[in-house]
Amino acid sequence: MVTRNVTVIGLQWGDEGKGKVVDALASSCKYVVRYCGGANAGHTVNVGDERYALHLIPCGILHQGVVNVVGNGVAFDPGVALKEIQDLRDRGVTVGSENLRISSAANVVMPYHKLQDSLSEAALGAEKIGTTARGIGPCYADKANRATAVRVAELADGEVLRGKIRRIVEMKNKVFAALYQAQPLDADAVCQEYAEYGRKLAPMICNTGELLRRACAGGDRILFEGGQGSMLDIDHGTYPFVTSSSVTACGVPTGAGVPPSAVGDVLGVMKAYTSRVGSGPFPTEQDNPVGSYLRERGREYGTTTGRARRCGWLDAVAVRYAAELSGVTELALSLLDVLTGLDEVKICVGYEVDGRRLESFEPSVMGQAKCIYESLRGWKEELGGCRDSADLPARARRYVRRVEQLIGRRISLISVGADRDKTILRRSRIKGIG
Ligand code: GDP
Ligand code: IMO
Ligand code: MG
Repeated sequence: MVTRNVTVIGLQWGDEGKGKVVDALASSCKYVVRYCGGANAGHTVNVGDERYALHLIPCGILHQGVVNVVGNGVAFDPGVALKEIQDLRDRGVTVGSENLRISSAANVVMPYHKLQDSLSEAALGAEKIGTTARGIGPCYADKANRATAVRVAELADGEVLRGKIRRIVEMKNKVFAALYQAQPLDADAVCQEYAEYGRKLAPMICNTGELLRRACAGGDRILFEGGQGSMLDIDHGTYPFVTSSSVTACGVPTGAGVPPSAVGDVLGVMKAYTSRVGSGPFPTEQDNPVGSYLRERGREYGTTTGRARRCGWLDAVAVRYAAELSGVTELALSLLDVLTGLDEVKICVGYEVDGRRLESFEPSVMGQAKCIYESLRGWKEELGGCRDSADLPARARRYVRRVEQLIGRRISLISVGADRDKTILRRSRIKGIG
């Protein structure tokens, strides 16, 4: 029997612990594929004493025999990728064309994208989105604009690339000077830099959609590694405070070049509470000692930017919305250990907006939403040593059961610490867990 593929996505505002979960499943897969976002992602995997923070390279790179794919839906920054590859090699990880493939159809993040991201944010002042400044939004904007986009395939031909980049840089320079009084970029230097990237990456660049469709036909198992979190989705998140790609499981077919049937089981990763980096509505935010407690115990500082993450209670309404959007079949509950020590643990089960009760997540009114909470009794025991649900204190077990009820899905993996072994695997139909 062919083993079903699996898609791992974030159900909140990112940083749910997807890296650890992907790492737990990767060895049961032949391919691990990124299909959205870019170097705005920061996925952490702890292996023994080693801590890896991966931005563009899929987390399967730490597993022998796994082929890692950067899909066409990714905003690909070749400079960041090459640095990441070098850092991994320096730490003894094999990275080459045998285990890393980059889509020729992915769009390239250029220096003017990063510049525009920073300039635009600075100009917005208090209204800024709070981006990671990785050039993600401007890169996807150029992708949609077509005439000003550069695809990975184009890095291969120095001559054609030079002509195109000169034309685009000239135009961007005019716009940036007019809007932000910015200094012009040197088109020739950009051409040289990117032609060099093209030469270095050439052996890894291919038609990854074709590769993955053949893998599907041949019965090789694929894991699709989501970036960001569902509430940051360009269409379904808390717009405009979102990222610029389709990060739910619905983004897999277009972002990887596979049919919807390839998505397989959908494992939604959720923190036992909520965190968010950057601006935008966050109904359960606790800008108080509870939020600080979660931030310090959870080490909630950005993997990509180092920014302090905003923290708050679990929003079960938001997570249920995200689970419905992606057809989540099972849940992974992470960072449960962080809740230890609190007298009470709250879960948002509804909102009040303009005096009206709201039972479902409506992105456009979340800025005005007041939360309706359910309160559960907390527990004092550290959870890091638990390897089975039965090891959890009764109150933590009750919390887990209540989350399952509220989201309407089974939790098949519970994470009680950042390390690989600090994981409780429960009954599951997903190979690698059950
Ligand atoms: P991702 O972007 O979803 O992969 O998540 P990040 O790596 O950005 O952030 C998750 C952080 O929590 C990382 O520092 C992980 O090492 C850490 N982490 C993951 N699972 C757990 C857990 O169960 N408990 C604790 N305390 N930390 C965890
Ligand atoms: P992972 O994959 C958390 C957030 C940014 C900002 C908004 C837009 O590690 O979960 P962008 O640079 O994408 O234009 O920023 O999205 N953001 C993330 N927050 N985790 C991420 O990725 C994120 N990727 C983007 O903080 O609020
Ligand atoms: Mg992250």
